Amino acid sequence: MPVNTASGKVHYQLHDTIAIIFVDNPPVNALSKQVRQELQQQISRFQTDEKAQIAILIGKGKANGFIAGADVSEFGKSPQAPFLPDIVALIEDTPKIIIAAMADFTLGGGLEIALAADYRLAHIDGKFGFPEVTLGVIPGAGGTQKLPRLVGIKKALELITSGKQFTATQAHQLGVVDRITDAPDLQMVAIDFAKEILQENYPRKLISQLPPPVVESADIFTQYQQKLQKTAFGQVAQLQAIKAIQISSEKNVADGMKAERQLFLELLQTPQRAGLVHAFFAENRLKKIPELKQVTVPLINNVAVIGGGTMGCAIATCLLLNGFTVIVVEQDDEAVATANKRIADLLDTSVARGKIDAEKRDILLNKQLQKTSDYQQIADVDLVIEAVFEDMKIKQEIFALLDKICKKDAILATNTSYLDINKIARSTNRASQIIGLHFFSPAHIMKLLEVIIPDEATPQTIAMGFAFAKKIRKIAVRSGVCDGFIGNRILAKLRDEAHMMVLAGADLYQVDKALIAFGFPMGVFATGDLAGLDIQWAQRKRKMQIQPSTPTLADFPDRICENGWFGQKTGRGYYLYQAGSKQGIPDDEVRAIIDAERQAKNIIVKTFTDQEIIDCYLAAMINEAANIVADGIATRPSDIDMVMIAGYGFPRYRGGPLHYADTIGLNNIVSMIHNNHQQPAKLLEKLAQEKKLFDSLNEK
Ligand code: COA
Ligand code: NAD
Repeated sequence: MPVNTASGKVHYQLHDTIAIIFVDNPPVNALSKQVRQELQQQISRFQTDEKAQIAILIGKGKANGFIAGADVSEFGKSPQAPFLPDIVALIEDTPKIIIAAMADFTLGGGLEIALAADYRLAHIDGKFGFPEVTLGVIPGAGGTQKLPRLVGIKKALELITSGKQFTATQAHQLGVVDRITDAPDLQMVAIDFAKEILQENYPRKLISQLPPPVVESADIFTQYQQKLQKTAFGQVAQLQAIKAIQISSEKNVADGMKAERQLFLELLQTPQRAGLVHAFFAENRLKKIPELKQVTVPLINNVAVIGGGTMGCAIATCLLLNGFTVIVVEQDDEAVATANKRIADLLDTSVARGKIDAEKRDILLNKQLQKTSDYQQIADVDLVIEAVFEDMKIKQEIFALLDKICKKDAILATNTSYLDINKIARSTNRASQIIGLHFFSPAHIMKLLEVIIPDEATPQTIAMGFAFAKKIRKIAVRSGVCDGFIGNRILAKLRDEAHMMVLAGADLYQVDKALIAFGFPMGVFATGDLAGLDIQWAQRKRKMQIQPSTPTLADFPDRICENGWFGQKTGRGYYLYQAGSKQGIPDDEVRAIIDAERQAKNIIVKTFTDQEIIDCYLAAMINEAANIVADGIATRPSDIDMVMIAGYGFPRYRGGPLHYADTIGLNNIVSMIHNNHQQPAKLLEKLAQEKKLFDSLNEK
């Protein structure tokens, strides 16, 4: 009979001569201080238990998982003993064999514990990985020293610097695990494995006794560093991971681990680590949708997309890639054929990127996708996503029609970027079933989805919106109705600020360069060229029609559009594009247009440092974000951080604009806004006066 002789989070049982040490710390068995303490106790106990000849380390809790790594909530505090390397050393110093039996997630520190064991057994559904760089650190308990010894330098560089998960089958092929099983009872298989080890007298098998990995080519580390520098946009953890992996080829495991630990501890203190941990919890908070707890959500199987233009086709592609049956509705046969070709092309790029194979593409295109110009064919769909021209009248007509045709419980969604969804909802007799699903371009690639909640939407409609977003694996952020919702409302202010800076004297190309140096993948002007300047132009004209009193801040964006320079698609916008190139070149004619406006307006031109550019730009972003929180459009500040990170290229390692504001001090932000001759948001002023942070509003 097994004897359970411990309480707490790590338990010890004896099955004849086999000790079972299991970690039970829901939801993901993270390695909190208590878990580390109890692991230390239970492993020590195994060492001295004369009846126990071999031990199995296994997880309990959700899906019998193993250990999903360090407890991320402890990252902000100074590390407390026992440290993870202490546990790793204890496992390795145990004179008896230890098996790690892993199901569900074995990540980060969990994998480092497994790599300290002699043998590793995995359930076939298990997932593995070193996600540390995504949290701004590197593995700090041997991961960078041991993985290269098992899988070679090249593969270790790939896995550790990307933080990507890999499957049990891959882990087996790579030699990271010794055995895999598809049996439902992992513990039983582990016990059989332990018996076999004892019967066959298998030897101890520690990775720390393997020789250093072979360096395939002398320049592999510098080459990898150069490659990553291009995509890291200023993040340092990946580069430190390369350094640690290089050390694995030069030192024994014990010395290598000391050097690795030093790098880990340094990274732990950085603002980048704080920003990434903030983003981790911000993303988790988004999953808390009260309506999902209140109602049961019916399954959504069939979806119609109205409009097969840029967005409609990419949305349809996204849905096909996530297992939905899709009907695309266009205006006439010619438009239907064009849409079909567009979707085929998008699926082809998915094949080229290795996301699907050619056979799957054919099934999606020919079996899962229907296209029509006949609205009657969508009578039975569960969800409609409208993506036609950005025109209130057209959208209202379409929604009135959809209301008549679609089955009575169907949800009708719009992908509008700016329009008032309450007005769209009122053109139907089912306003309670209308929602906004605001995708970002390209919709099959961008992770962000704003779920816009109009006044009359019921909990059922809201829950369906979020359940659907989860199915298509988007980062879904809740937003109220306002012009531009969260993201585009901020973007409008950012563009104004960028235009004002340029008019005041900043060189347009310097603005983009400063933003890239801050960590944005692209500058605001180059992004405009990519999206098409005509879209912003139409938006400005629409705004002027609605609010003719809106002051025009700068005219040069209109002058550029009047020339027909709409960006990359016309070969010219703020930048010049040589045939076939997406890399813009500064254009002196654009500079001349800006100079002419400065002269006509008698502007005394001043120069800007890169830091001044960043201060002005971010102050505008933070101020509007504060207004959005105060207006109740966003649920909490960290939701806005996620919108800007997932949809607008704000560097994740800086945690989003409101986390960034917290780190540099809200009083400083208020001063920066005054320097811009603007009025600070009331909420911002209040928080600054009370010496509080935006983060104080996050826990809801
Ligand atoms: N430390 C602390 N809390 C953690 C955690 C960790 N390593 N991993 C997950 N959690 C918490 C989440 O914050 C969430 O808490 P909440 O319910 O209070 O919001 C809860 O566990 C469930 O996490 P969730 O992400 O919703 O579960 P999932 O099943 O979708 O995904 C994981 C599970 C393990 C894949 C995912 O949580 C994950 O990637 N965690 C981070 C793992 C990691 O980076 N470990 C290495 C640290 S160096
Ligand atoms: P688009 O001009 O590329 O496509 C619109 C399509 O709608 C056209 O193919 C047109 O033929 C079709 N259409 C028009 N009337 C129709 C009708 N009655 N029935 C069926 N089809 C009809 O426009 P887009 O860029 O795809 O934008 C579509 C919507 O998505 C807009 O509301 C826009 O604001 C929003 N949006 C666009 C972006 C973007 O980056 N382009 C991003 C997010 C949201």
